Amino acid sequence: MFKLEGRIALVTGAGQSVGEGMARVLARQGAAVIVNDLYGERASRVADAVLKAGGKAVSAPFDVTDLSAAEPAVRAAEAELGHHVDILVNNAGIAEGDWNRPFRELTPEQWRLPIDLNIYGSLNTTKIVIDNMCEAGWGRIVQISSGSARTGQNIGVSMYAAGKSGIEGFVRHLAAEVGQFGVTANILALGLQANLGSTMPPEQVKALVSTIPIGRLGDPEEVGAAVAYLAADESGGMTGQTIDFNGGTQTR
Ligand SMILES: NC(=O)c1ccc[n+]([C@@H]2O[C@H](COP(=O)([O-])OP(=O)(O)OC[C@H]3O[C@@H](n4cnc5c(N)ncnc54)[C@H](O)[C@@H]3O)[C@@H](O)[C@H]2O)c1
Repeated sequence: MFKLEGRIALVTGAGQSVGEGMARVLARQGAAVIVNDLYGERASRVADAVLKAGGKAVSAPFDVTDLSAAEPAVRAAEAELGHHVDILVNNAGIAEGDWNRPFRELTPEQWRLPIDLNIYGSLNTTKIVIDNMCEAGWGRIVQISSGSARTGQNIGVSMYAAGKSGIEGFVRHLAAEVGQFGVTANILALGLQANLGSTMPPEQVKALVSTIPIGRLGDPEEVGAAVAYLAADESGGMTGQTIDFNGGTQTR
């Protein structure tokens, strides 16, 4: 089940953490993976690891917010792999920059980064792949989101949440528009992931973990397995959905 042989998957922001886990799992299921990241060395490291493990991958470094850079890079990777992208995972979503603070402390200039990345980043890659998917009569789009799109939190992520909830709205409409062509579009809304441990003091991680029913942070390859399902033939009957993958945390 959930075999992806013969499929080409583009995973954005796949040079580390969650995106890396997804790229590894999709490759294990048989997809050839276009490993995107803003940083060439991150993308190459993951593509090399996939190749070493016996999978197929090419690295495609570009900034997803820049359509003029993204389109030629995706076309070049498609030419190298000999087929258009059938599976798009819009994962790049954590912008670099000073946006992670309460709204009252942000200047209007600081609003843009997470909104550009989460909305325009995903719109750009979707624009690049959607026509080929519809013409082929098969495609899968997976948007990585967060519970913060629907739940207010006092942790300085209001602009990130504005981007995530905006793109969630788009994906639901896209699903309604392209379902007739055999293309699905779903949202996987993640809870806190294991890589938080590298950016937060252990006591803070412990406090956060205590709020998660399964008592641990998310694992990139476990998320990758959910993406493999959403990318497979078997999920063709499911589209326009938002699925919480968060260890049981209740979102509202
Ligand atoms: N980590 C968490 O706890 C968590 C929780 C909920 C949702 N998420 C979501 O999961 C996804 C992955 O998060 P992560 O924690 O793995 O992030 P991360 O920051 O560890 O990795 C993301 C990668 O994206 C790349 N990137 C950033 N901007 C880019 C751009 N403009 N173009 C291309 N690549 C770019 C970075 O270089 C980085 O390698 C994001 O959409 C995030 O919002 C993460």
